Amino acid sequence: MNNPDSKEEKSFNGLSPKEWALLSKNVWNDVSSPREAFHLEHGATYPIALADRIIKMYSKAGDLVLDPFVGVGTTVVSAYRQKRSGIGIELNERFHEIASEALNKEKANLFENVKGKVFHKIHCDDCRNLRKYLKDNSVQLTFTSPPYANFIQKSVKDRKNTHKTSLIKYSNNSTVKQYSEKVEDFGNLDYHVFLKEIKLILADNLRVTKKGGYSVWVVKDYRDTKNKIPYIDFHSDLANTGKDAGWLYQDLIVWDQNSQRRLVLLGYPSVFYTNQNCSFIVVFRKPLL
Ligand SMILES: C[S@@+](CC[C@H](N)C(=O)[O-])C[C@H]1O[C@@H](n2cnc3c(N)ncnc32)[C@H](O)[C@@H]1O
Repeated sequence: MNNPDSKEEKSFNGLSPKEWALLSKNVWNDVSSPREAFHLEHGATYPIALADRIIKMYSKAGDLVLDPFVGVGTTVVSAYRQKRSGIGIELNERFHEIASEALNKEKANLFENVKGKVFHKIHCDDCRNLRKYLKDNSVQLTFTSPPYANFIQKSVKDRKNTHKTSLIKYSNNSTVKQYSEKVEDFGNLDYHVFLKEIKLILADNLRVTKKGGYSVWVVKDYRDTKNKIPYIDFHSDLANTGKDAGWLYQDLIVWDQNSQRRLVLLGYPSVFYTNQNCSFIVVFRKPLL
């Protein structure tokens, strides 16, 4: 039986002061986990360890966690394992099928732990319809990684060219691919249209989130050297888009992935570019008033 006067019971996420402090670094170089079987068909999943950490930080057991771009289901599987409810939305039928299978497998393994207290569902739909599935003020945490506009399509082409000339071979040659041909797919939008559409999603996301709840987005910055744009500050654009939609820009975490990637020789010998080997975790909070 938990002690209602304990510090853990009083904290909004159920963490002790020591756990809280240990999770409060703003640069993470210790988050990776082998991709699980259900991850293999998707070119851009995050590791379950990342979802586990974010869910621990920003929610407690019994809360509702949402992922509007759920892919093969990483966020909802992590929510399940941590006794949170979970709702995911995914446009691509194949990824939806994989996510649903992964979730059913979890339910078969762990059902007794969470029976009756929480619910989990992955919808195959356009996340523009997210309010169909969620009541206003019901979600404690959204954790997601959207497509990066149509950068993936560009980067597939760029990587092919880089591989031809690079002295250092890219380790992951390349599992990145376009998610679908659908017009609703955020991965098929030009950047400026993409940001406008993301603002609408963030506005709906705000409505369904509880006051004081969080929305956490994992993104990378980009280059479009072909069009002479050396740096696209996607995480800042996303942060500003979130603020425009009514969110507080609460925090920024750098997820250092240098140990997971090999270096590519870029721009040599004329222009120096760094490798984009980190992701940014943009944290929004819904105002209390
Ligand atoms: C970066 S991936 C997310 C991967 C996920 N974090 C995981 O670990 O599996 C982005 C996903 O968004 C999906 N997507 C694109 N447009 C969408 C839309 N309009 N509604 C819902 N999902 C969409 C893509 O099919 C893709 O699976």
